[in-house]
Amino acid sequence: MSTNNNVYEVTFQPSGKKAMIKRGTTVLDAARRTGLPIVTRCGGKASCMMCKVRHVGENRFGLSPTGDNELRKLGGLHEEGYRLGCQAKVIGSVELMLPEDPLRAAVRKLLEQQHDDDNTLW
Ligand code: FES
Repeated sequence: MSTNNNVYEVTFQPSGKKAMIKRGTTVLDAARRTGLPIVTRCGGKASCMMCKVRHVGENRFGLSPTGDNELRKLGGLHEEGYRLGCQAKVIGSVELMLPEDPLRAAVRKLLEQQHDDDNTLW
């Protein structure tokens, strides 16, 4: 959905939060402006890979074409629908899965490991 030729609806999962984003905005900036900041180490220089987002909607053409550097970084993940949020720009309406917060991911892994250990003991 576009209200005019330069603004598009971007849906961020898993929250389902939607925002109207100006064409040419990187996904990293769009997420920040929507109040869903993505933690990164490189600050948007296509090196840390912490900004990986994945297409989850039907429209695969809502993001700018993948550049050579981004493609090299992503490797096979690109074929699974992943893009680097710092490189991919909004050019149409799109639905994306944001990366899990690193702290939350670490806690989740510890809890899963503890659950597995508990099941092994009994
Ligand atoms: S922000 Fe580091 S690779 Fe995108």
